[in-house]
Amino acid sequence: MEPGAGGSGSGSGCGANLVAACVIGGIVLGSSVLALRLSGPVAIPSLPPVDALRRRFSRRRRRPVRVYMDGCFDMMHYGHCNALRQARALGDELIVGVISDDEIIANKGPPVTPLHERMIMVRAVKWVDDIIPDAPYAITEDFMNKLFNEYNIDYIIHGDDPCLLPDGTDAYALAKKAGRYKQIKRTEGVSTTDIVGRMLLCVRERSASDSHNHSSLQRQFSHGHGQKIDDSGSGSGTRISHFLPTSRRIVQFSNSRGPGPDSRIVYIDGAFDLFHAGHVEILRLARELGDFLLVGIHTDQTIR
Ligand code: CTP
Repeated sequence: MEPGAGGSGSGSGCGANLVAACVIGGIVLGSSVLALRLSGPVAIPSLPPVDALRRRFSRRRRRPVRVYMDGCFDMMHYGHCNALRQARALGDELIVGVISDDEIIANKGPPVTPLHERMIMVRAVKWVDDIIPDAPYAITEDFMNKLFNEYNIDYIIHGDDPCLLPDGTDAYALAKKAGRYKQIKRTEGVSTTDIVGRMLLCVRERSASDSHNHSSLQRQFSHGHGQKIDDSGSGSGTRISHFLPTSRRIVQFSNSRGPGPDSRIVYIDGAFDLFHAGHVEILRLARELGDFLLVGIHTDQTIR
């Protein structure tokens, strides 16, 4: 019996082992499952429902592309507006850095219009979503990180003219190195320097005493940049702008909207020469008096 008993004993031992193994396995498995259950929320983070995930991903996909353009925007002109238009077209939101007076003085010379006036002008442009006052002239590492981390800027944008610091280095070098720089096409034939030159010409013309200086100014500002001069009798040397030659460009700059049948239409007229912060304010006030603002712009002959 012993061997048999032993045999059967060994057989039943095997069964017992199996049972034991099963029991132990069961306990281990059970305790693992229990552990998972108990520590479930810690070991495996609870998964958000599929709908919430979908919403989160689609929100991520739809994050607006934010672009940054900086500038002096001194005596703001249509070249600046066209730059802002092109910058805005490179993203969904345009943030504009208006460079501080001190930075302009240090890098270019004193601006004609102070920061608060330049800010009024920039803010009034329909393509601008927000502005950063007192922006630096050069994109420094600190400022670039601030743009990326605080303002969520994706790209830094500037016109295709070189923008050099007094030491000859590129003001946008760091942004270019970071691969976060984009360029727009500069609008030919208009610049703050040229507008200031034209003003000097007007002053000279009115006093008409210093013919030498007058002709040298005219060479510099009216005949510069290959521009056409309106010499059809006005004698003012005023340039003919070729900036709005196509209906497409006119539509881009207008708000493509006429008055409704019941609109209260307000009319205001003026020369709007050297368009400035005061003009912006008067147009804003006039617009508030009705639902639609129609602006009459005097001809050069009327002004004279
Ligand atoms: N800009 C442009 N076309 C112009 C003038 C300016 O596209 N005719 C662009 C510049 O390249 C820059 C932005 O407008 O990206 C702001 O320019 P800003 O710093 O104000 O002036 P400048 O480039 O010095 O030009 P300006 O002398 O006319 O002020």
